[in-house]
Amino acid sequence: MAPWSLSWHFLLPFLGSVWVFAEAESTCFANAVAEGDRKFLSGPSGPYPIGVWVCDWPAAYVTSEVVHILLEEILGFRVVQTGPGPSTVDGFFALTGCATPTNIEDRGCSAEPVVTTNHINVEGWTESYASTWAEIERDYPQNAPRNLGNMGYFGKTSMYLPANIRQAAYNAEGWILEFYRGFNVSWTQPAKYFDHHSSIDKDRLKKCVDTRLMVSQAMEVYADITGDWHGVEILTDDNGNRVVRGKCWDEYFWYPPACRDEPSKCVIFFTGGSGWNLEETMQKATAWNMPLAPAIAKTWGDYTKLPLQIGSTFYWWVPDPTFLLLDPVEITFPPFDRTAFLRGDKRTSPTALSVDKYVSQDLQTLAPEAHHLVRGMVMDLEGVNDMLRDQLETGNSSRDVACRWLHGHEDVWKPWLPDPTKCFSGFGLYHQPSSNFVTNRRDPTGLICNPCPSGTFSSKLADDAGITFVCEPCPAGTKQPSGASVECVPCKEGEYQV
Ligand SMILES: *[C@@H]1O[C@H](CO)[C@@H](O)[C@H](O)[C@H]1NC(C)=O
Ligand SMILES: *[C@@H]1O[C@H](CO)[C@@H](O)[C@H](O)[C@H]1NC(C)=O
Repeated sequence: MAPWSLSWHFLLPFLGSVWVFAEAESTCFANAVAEGDRKFLSGPSGPYPIGVWVCDWPAAYVTSEVVHILLEEILGFRVVQTGPGPSTVDGFFALTGCATPTNIEDRGCSAEPVVTTNHINVEGWTESYASTWAEIERDYPQNAPRNLGNMGYFGKTSMYLPANIRQAAYNAEGWILEFYRGFNVSWTQPAKYFDHHSSIDKDRLKKCVDTRLMVSQAMEVYADITGDWHGVEILTDDNGNRVVRGKCWDEYFWYPPACRDEPSKCVIFFTGGSGWNLEETMQKATAWNMPLAPAIAKTWGDYTKLPLQIGSTFYWWVPDPTFLLLDPVEITFPPFDRTAFLRGDKRTSPTALSVDKYVSQDLQTLAPEAHHLVRGMVMDLEGVNDMLRDQLETGNSSRDVACRWLHGHEDVWKPWLPDPTKCFSGFGLYHQPSSNFVTNRRDPTGLICNPCPSGTFSSKLADDAGITFVCEPCPAGTKQPSGASVECVPCKEGEYQV
């Protein structure tokens, strides 16, 4: 039995300005802030919830749920999930307040200041989309979101093999297949630990003619870098232009020099699409004398199943659940060489990419505690993988597995929470049980931060616990009419504030 049962939030934007939540209440934590006590953000057109924009992939769903549950149940905010968006960049545009963030042709952005309904986005692959991020900062400086940095782990696309094959080869021969040199056929015959490529049902593969082996520029770079001109064919197209094609053996395969003469010595490398990372794999296989023969799965479904059914190496990325049950081990190469990669020379290791979290420009002002939580959120890759594995094994929802992870890892997420007595400018210490503002936190029990009411100003207090703010009455002869303010202004002559 999951520690919580189903909870659905139906959020209806009603008459454009009133948010109506209908909920069959049930929470992840027993001591959760009750639904009716949760705070809205206050905006120019009325109260509205915090929007957590979700990216449409498994690791993003579970990490978004982690943030969602903590915001609602521990910090006590009204939260709604928005999206999902198929790409990291959709999240950038959503947090920028663009009206149609997933529309590639027109994101509906404004250069004028806008109030966004999307405030938080996690699991973004910033480095893969650095140019879009820079464009948003240039074109919409007033609305551009903030990158609050790394989630505590890096993402990567790379080459993997199942842990049991790695172990079998190590136990029997001492071959180290998690390292590229372990595949050097001058020393090892790794094929004996993998399935033979004749065991694949070819109906589940793409023919060479439907793959990147037909992309002339990619194949020319391959041959240039490796000098393997026997691995390509040079043809003339109908217009008399020179084209370079990857050579095709047996209609479906390209064989590297290490096993070209004896394909039974090849190890299958499964990939998908029209050959994700194909040229990179070909370059590495040839440069390092590895017998890796790429096989391109016909469909996404074939790509996700073939490596589970046939002992092979395969293309994959982390964090992602697709092959977690194989306990995949990455094959490592010499260290990443950025300059070489930029020239198209992909013989070195792929680089790890920072996976980041972002907030809208206004979140810090609207909800400093929520901003603090996202800034502090740091988990390791193992934590994300734990949730994804749990989901694979149980088939439970992202919310279920996030809740279970939260219950088991209080030590990880407790430090992300703001100290409830650490007030920000504009706010002051408030004793909830007696409904009074107080001017010190010597006894922190029951203390939270509330916006300073009209007639008071938020004054900095430094004590043993660090910096916080308290609400002080405006001095005689000054006033503070609007609330949540950091200073009082002199009254006009003949005016006073009580
Ligand atoms: C593979 O091993 C042989 C034998 O030690 C060595 O001469 C060769 O340089 C190695 N190849 C690569 C690409 O490391
Ligand atoms: C979670 O998964 C377990 C095991 O598959 C199942 O028994 C349970 O009903 C699931 N819970 C929910 C809420 O789906």
